[in-house]
Amino acid sequence: MSRYYLTTPIFYVNDAPHIGHAYTVLNGDAVTRWHRLLGDDVYYLTGTDEHGLKVQRAAEANGLSPLEQADRTSRRFREAWKELGVANDEFIRTTELRHYRSVQTLMQRAYDNGHIYSAVYDGWYSVSDEAYVPEDEVSEADIESGRVERMTEENYFFKLSAFEDRLLEWFEAEPRNITPEGYRNEALGIIRGGLRDISVTRTSIDWGIPVPWAEGHVFYVWYDALTNYATAVGYGADQERFSTWWPSVRHLIGKDILRFHCVYWPAMLMAAGVDHMPRCHVHGWLLVGGAKMSKSAFNQISPADLVDDFGVDGFRYSLLRDAPFGPDSEVSHEALQHRYNTDLANNFGNLLQRAVTLVHSKCGGVGPAPDPDHPLADVAARVYADAAAAWDRFQPSVALEATWRLIRDTNEYLQATEPWKMDPGPLVGKVLGNALEALRIVCVLACPAIPASCQTAWDRLGLAGSPLDQRLPGAAVWGQYPGGLTVTAGDPLFPRLKG
Ligand code: MSP
Repeated sequence: MSRYYLTTPIFYVNDAPHIGHAYTVLNGDAVTRWHRLLGDDVYYLTGTDEHGLKVQRAAEANGLSPLEQADRTSRRFREAWKELGVANDEFIRTTELRHYRSVQTLMQRAYDNGHIYSAVYDGWYSVSDEAYVPEDEVSEADIESGRVERMTEENYFFKLSAFEDRLLEWFEAEPRNITPEGYRNEALGIIRGGLRDISVTRTSIDWGIPVPWAEGHVFYVWYDALTNYATAVGYGADQERFSTWWPSVRHLIGKDILRFHCVYWPAMLMAAGVDHMPRCHVHGWLLVGGAKMSKSAFNQISPADLVDDFGVDGFRYSLLRDAPFGPDSEVSHEALQHRYNTDLANNFGNLLQRAVTLVHSKCGGVGPAPDPDHPLADVAARVYADAAAAWDRFQPSVALEATWRLIRDTNEYLQATEPWKMDPGPLVGKVLGNALEALRIVCVLACPAIPASCQTAWDRLGLAGSPLDQRLPGAAVWGQYPGGLTVTAGDPLFPRLKG
């Protein structure tokens, strides 16, 4: 059995969840659900990043302690993902005790191995990015606007510069370590451009994890945060569990945090003597009016607003289908609504409604069996192959596009055969049996993206259990709708949206 351990970035608790965050988490949810269908042993992790200056200042501005701020906002993330039907196995918080132990263990090992040394940091820091900014990347405007702040303090540094060769060796040995390819080249470019040592501790703040070997220091928030991926599977506490899951780890990230995940983090793992390096799947930004959605740009959209308009699955599907994984994507209400109406209301919803209604008018509500040799069987086989390849490449939009070909072809088949004009009997039974069988397969292939709707459709077809419990590739093979099941009518699955 394959293991599949997927992580999302952990989200800062200075502010509420928006659809940019949801985009990452939903892509991960859909891909992990696909792997569950394949029978893989899956672990899907998300959580919140709760230390650092950014959170400390947000707490001050809200008149809260940092922990109160973290408790409040972390809960909002947890609830948001629940409302969106996300099936994460765990939600980690960096203020948990086990995480303190894990960070301290990992960093202590890197220190003991001689990769961390003491020196004075004198340079610029961006609180909004929680990142040190090199002198040559700072403009007058950055200083005047306060985007960067001067910082001079006694720090511990990580000898990142010593890891260039080992990082390059890893890139050579693992040609698929970072996908899509363009982001791999970006990470390679960073390494080849030369790496400078980086500060990994702070003395001027106390909202962080204490450094075990140096009183008064806390760890720089990024190393604290990155280590959550190891904490969740037992690093420093349960070696067996860690060895079980870590070799299959993959990080799902936005392109803004590529340098941390694809360069700094693997180097730190090497420094601490961890064997396996994570793979990364990197996506672009959701843009609103051409700008990255963010607090400072005042263009944030909350997932709850779109769920009100489209329903949970309507939102999940439209976002996954319309914002391909990799490049930046402009999102708009009009485009999402268009996608919803076209693919969900007109195609999937309509096919189900039509088939069920006809089974009632022509077959007394009892679903007939399909024709085992019908040409739609070939369509289903090709659709499965294309969808499976796309899910495997972390391309949900392409996988859904492929799946919808089966819906489209089945609608065209009904259009061509016109079962509504046929008399009750075996001929109309075959046509409708084929439509029900196509719908059964669609329910399985689409359930990673729209689990609740596929369950409803599955129930209406009279099938027992759940599409989520099916096993691929077997469940996608044509001809398994048994016939003789009671088919139930109901309200349209995806009511058409106007306006
Ligand atoms: N806390 C760090 C991550 C630490 S991981 C060890 C952080 N948090 S964040 O809340 O600012 O953003 C995390 C992630 O949210 C981004 O990498 C990205 O995956 C997602 N997005 C935030 N804004 C986004 C868009 N506008 N568009 C798409 N994804 C976005 O960075």
